[in-house]
Amino acid sequence: MKVEQPTFDEKILKLLKENRGVYTSGVEIGKNLDLSRTAVWKHMGNLRKAGYEIDAIPNLGYRLLSSPDLMTSAEIESGLKTKYIGKKIHAFSLTDSTNTKAFELALHGAPEGTVIVAEGQRKGKGRLGRKWESPKGVNVYASIVLRPKIAPSSASQITLLAAVATARAIEKATKILPDIKWPNDLLIRNRKVAGILMELDSEADMVNFIVLGIGIDINMDINSLPPDVAKVATSIKNETGRTIERVPLVQELFRQLEKWYEIFKADGFGPIITEWERLSIMAGKYIRVSFLKETKEGVALGLDTDGALLLRLPTGRIERVVAGDVTMVR
Ligand code: BTN
Repeated sequence: MKVEQPTFDEKILKLLKENRGVYTSGVEIGKNLDLSRTAVWKHMGNLRKAGYEIDAIPNLGYRLLSSPDLMTSAEIESGLKTKYIGKKIHAFSLTDSTNTKAFELALHGAPEGTVIVAEGQRKGKGRLGRKWESPKGVNVYASIVLRPKIAPSSASQITLLAAVATARAIEKATKILPDIKWPNDLLIRNRKVAGILMELDSEADMVNFIVLGIGIDINMDINSLPPDVAKVATSIKNETGRTIERVPLVQELFRQLEKWYEIFKADGFGPIITEWERLSIMAGKYIRVSFLKETKEGVALGLDTDGALLLRLPTGRIERVVAGDVTMVR
């Protein structure tokens, strides 16, 4: 499989970021990257066109003043506080689905923590075969490769972990704490703001890898969505009236994911259940769960030790639900 190399624009940007605050001469940059001064000047033009503000002073050189809110690997890597999640980032301007890309890379051996991000997706995938609206330049679409040493039956615990991490990241970056609806919808005022799609490759008794796909609606205009989606969706901007920077949010997302994944590896699923139940709006609510052609109603009691939802049916019997869509009835 072809692994893309950083372009000269990216290499120059990296140099400018490493020297933030000081001027770096065109000659020095040229020497470093084996480029002529004219070529360096041309690449500065490309970066400016992409939205970077670069100061240039004759005889002194170039200095980066500000960066646009772009989901590029250079932007996300700069200031990322993780040990392995996001240490390798593949960034696309447009792709079919970051999950599909991540799955291919994982099949070819991509290490744990590899991330795929995109500005937009042509075939964004939602749960249960649905489509995920993925307009360009406004939201977060990210997929993370994990290689936990667990049985396939435990894999859904990682999705619940991701819901906790995503809720906490949104809270840190925007001061709004979303609610979690089982299994992994994030809601603000009962409208969906983020979703998680976990895909899995496994042997009969061992997971090979997991792809965690996370979509967060950030600056999307809800009125741009098809009416049936607009009815149930929201975005952070829709809720706050403010445009939110995506890069700090995605950096916080990777930090929270790594934090909760480390807790999971060290202490198991218990701490995740506690945090999930703290963030969930469901306990004690009367709900309806639909899966394929079957529908059940009852009171949501919380999570079982493996992540299944415990439902008390009107007969009093307690049932474990492992898949489905939840509607809050009252
Ligand atoms: C859901 O139905 O709630 C899950 C939505 C998951 C969407 C994300 S966006 C990034 C990743 N790539 C995809 O194609 N889907 C997931």
